[in-house]
This record gives sequence, structure tokens and C-alpha cells, in this order.
Amino acid sequence: MGKNKDINAKILWFTGLSGAGKTTIAYGIKERLKQENIKIIVLDGDKLRKGINKDLGFSLEDRKENIRRVAEIAKLFKDEGFLTIVSFISPTKEIRDLAKSIVSEDGFVEVFIDAPLEKCIQRDVKGLYKRAISGEISNFTGINSPFERPINPDITIDTDKLTVDESVEKIIKILI
Ligand code: ADX
Repeated sequence: MGKNKDINAKILWFTGLSGAGKTTIAYGIKERLKQENIKIIVLDGDKLRKGINKDLGFSLEDRKENIRRVAEIAKLFKDEGFLTIVSFISPTKEIRDLAKSIVSEDGFVEVFIDAPLEKCIQRDVKGLYKRAISGEISNFTGINSPFERPINPDITIDTDKLTVDESVEKIIKILI
């Protein structure tokens, strides 16, 4: 309870292209709230894919299983009162609906971390777009695998227009 009760036990489900800024903003929120009395966990695609989900690839079926597992994990944390930030591409409506149905709509906040594909290709922080465009990586989201823009997200963050700090503040303001 207390002043932060509204923000506890929520799942912020970040969806967006690789390189859109999901992970940076997720950890930005965690950092920004560290003085507050809030338990926060970030579940990040790259990290979970190195461990619990390392048996999975990037076909739509594998992505669905990836999301199913993280949704189950997120639900456990939410039930323990954590503000749970899930940072996965979650590329299709079907996949996001699956996540929502597992954790229940109550407390599920869909956050679209939006950046134009061209910007993500330009940034290419991990060098993966270059490899996907050259054909070295198949099934790469936005290049040769679909990304369906969320139709009615609870929050949209345009990382082409906002700085990381502005993005973090916008989300926190909406939440509290
Ligand atoms: S999801 O589609 O199943 O939700 P997830 O968020 O777990 O994807 O993983 C995405 C991360 O995996 C990217 O940020 C990138 O670093 C890496 N990656 C490697 N191969 C691919 C690929 N074919 N498509 C998308 N991301 C990939």
C-alpha cells in the first residue's frame, strides 16, 4: 500500500522493433524509480534467450513459445507485487494477445516503443540489421519477418522524437 500502490503489480509489456529502445527505456524506468518503495524487475528478450529460452529460434512458432514462457514468468512476479517490465519484440497481435490472456488484462499495460524501421536500421546497435539485409540472418523482424504495429496500445513512445529521459517520464506520469 502507500502512495505507490497504483504502480505495483502491473506489467508493462514493451513491444517494438529491435533497436527501437525497449531495453534502454525499461532500465531507465528501473533506475528512475530506485529510490521509491517499489519492487521492479525487467525481463529482457536478449537475456532470457541466453538462458531459459535458449532452445528457441525466431520462427513465429518459437517466438510464440518465447512469449508464452515470459508471460508466465511475468505473471508470477506481478502476483508477488512487482512492477514487471517485459521487453520483447512481441511482433504480432496474436502473440501480444496470448501474453495478455496469460497474465490477464487486469494490470496489463501495452507499451509500444515506436521507431521507424529506417531509424532502427540506421542505428543498428548490434549490427544485426546489416546481416539480415545481406541475407545472413533469416526471419529478422522488420526485414524478413513481420512486425504488426499494435492497433490500440495503452501507451505509445515515439523514440524518434523523445529522448530516453522524456520517454521514461512520459511512462511514469501515465502510470502514477
Ligand atoms: S521475440 O520476437 O521473440 O519477442 P525477442 O525480443 O525475444 O524477440 O528477441 C529479440 C532480440 O533477439 C533482438 O533484439 C536481437 O538482439 C536478437 N535477434 C537475433 N535474431 C533475431 C531475429 N531473427 N529477429 C529479431 N531479433 C533477433
